[in-house]
Amino acid sequence: PSEKDFTGRKLYSYQGSWYYPNTLQAILNFQTHFQARDSDIILASLPKSGTTWLKALAFAVVHRNKYAPNLESHPLLSDNPHNLVRFLELDLYVKNQCPGLEELPSPRIFATHMPFQTLHESLRDSPCKVVYVCRDIKDVLVSRWHFRSKLVSNYSLEDIVEEYIKGVCFFGPFQEQVLSYWKESLVNSNHVLFMRYEEMIEKPEAQVIRVADFLGCPFTEEEKQSGIVENILELCSFGNLSNLEANKTGTSTCGIPHHGFFGKGGVGGWNNHLTDDMARKLDEMVEKKLEGSGLKFE
Ligand code: A3P
Repeated sequence: PSEKDFTGRKLYSYQGSWYYPNTLQAILNFQTHFQARDSDIILASLPKSGTTWLKALAFAVVHRNKYAPNLESHPLLSDNPHNLVRFLELDLYVKNQCPGLEELPSPRIFATHMPFQTLHESLRDSPCKVVYVCRDIKDVLVSRWHFRSKLVSNYSLEDIVEEYIKGVCFFGPFQEQVLSYWKESLVNSNHVLFMRYEEMIEKPEAQVIRVADFLGCPFTEEEKQSGIVENILELCSFGNLSNLEANKTGTSTCGIPHHGFFGKGGVGGWNNHLTDDMARKLDEMVEKKLEGSGLKFE
């Protein structure tokens, strides 16, 4: 089935989510040609949930022996996180039906906005590591509004609230996607790590340690004492990344201007934009969708 988004672009439904045609084609390419490795790392999220930050952190953690986080030539200082960790369905498989991923060294790190059920079955069934980050939908929504209003005119907050509640939007419906990873993380906690942007903001050190443990490359006591965790956090901090020339200019391999991934960062920014009525509608929708799942947003 297909429907139009509010700008008149056609969206197609596939395995419970909505996609523009080129993304859907890329997903079909991915599902046909991808082959998982046990050592693969998949970073999953809804757009505007902290993907860029998670990409930077995972890259810095996994490659810390090759690139010390305080290295002056660290790749994160000269390249956008989206070029270092590429999206499967928004980048790699859009450009090429078979992007040659089998030639990449292990561990491969990829990112996706697809729901869990749409990951390739070789990924779903393998012991590879999937890290999911979610964020309060109200902050996601306002972040997306800022982001999209730079690219699409007449994109009002009312439009976007309607869109979220209806669920017919790119990678929507959103809470269903969050639930797909949440449920998997409950039954298979070695396979899916469920993270929250808010917890990363509140206790970044504990969350980075959690990621490293989950990915099978825990920090040794010696490393911890050397300050490497703090160095990684500083390298990947909003202040540092958003001020780098590499992230202020240019366009990522998925076709989005680098600066588009950096707004103000932080928690609760929605308060300055959404009316009480909008916030109430969104909270009610989320509460209803998550009922009985054990997952809660305060
Ligand atoms: P805001 O628009 O609320 O500022 P994504 O990477 O999934 O597109 O999410 C983008 C959101 O994450 C934006 O939120 C952006 O500012 C924030 N962000 C990007 N890099 C960050 C970082 N290093 N630390 C914290 N937040 C970051």
